[in-house]
Amino acid sequence: MKNKITREDAWNLLTEYTKTDALRKHALAVEAVMEHFAKMFGEDEEVWGVVGLLHDLDYEKFPDEHCHKSEEIMREQGIDELYIRAMKSHGYGICTDVEPESKMEKVLYTIDELTGLINAACLMRPSKSVLDLEVKSIKKKFKDKSFAAGVSRETIKNGIVMLDMDLDDVIFETIEGMKAKAEDIGLKGNL
Ligand SMILES: [Fe+2]
Ligand SMILES: [Fe+2]
Repeated sequence: MKNKITREDAWNLLTEYTKTDALRKHALAVEAVMEHFAKMFGEDEEVWGVVGLLHDLDYEKFPDEHCHKSEEIMREQGIDELYIRAMKSHGYGICTDVEPESKMEKVLYTIDELTGLINAACLMRPSKSVLDLEVKSIKKKFKDKSFAAGVSRETIKNGIVMLDMDLDDVIFETIEGMKAKAEDIGLKGNL
């Protein structure tokens, strides 16, 4: 790929537009999980990671123009279409009509909401950690619609169908990805 963005450039761009700690941690969590899935599928970890890092680039400053403002900023920066399309596809059915097509896009679409659910669940735990988290406790939270009600279970379910994977496996791998960066994403807790 010719116009590959380095992780460093992506981080600099993200932090220029995103000052909120929670949003930075969300970007880092999505990056970590994207890297994990890339490794699993034998794909480019840096490309997948950067896609995760930048997917909510405009959200802090332009929440009402989510995805559209990111597209504008990314184009100004001369960022490759591959990253722009992936970013837009995470908002499929919400703020764009760009359907996830590639494996990378399908993973992003699925794990964006799922990392949110896992994050909320971890913060409720005595350990405040992702390191000792089990799949079954996330499955329970997944079914309990009143828990982290803002997390769209429908989006996650749609993503799993697109990926042709089991919910258990996707939850397991997403937790694994988050564990790898537990400290950076604020989920090391007291372990
Ligand atoms: Fe988003
Ligand atoms: Fe997100």
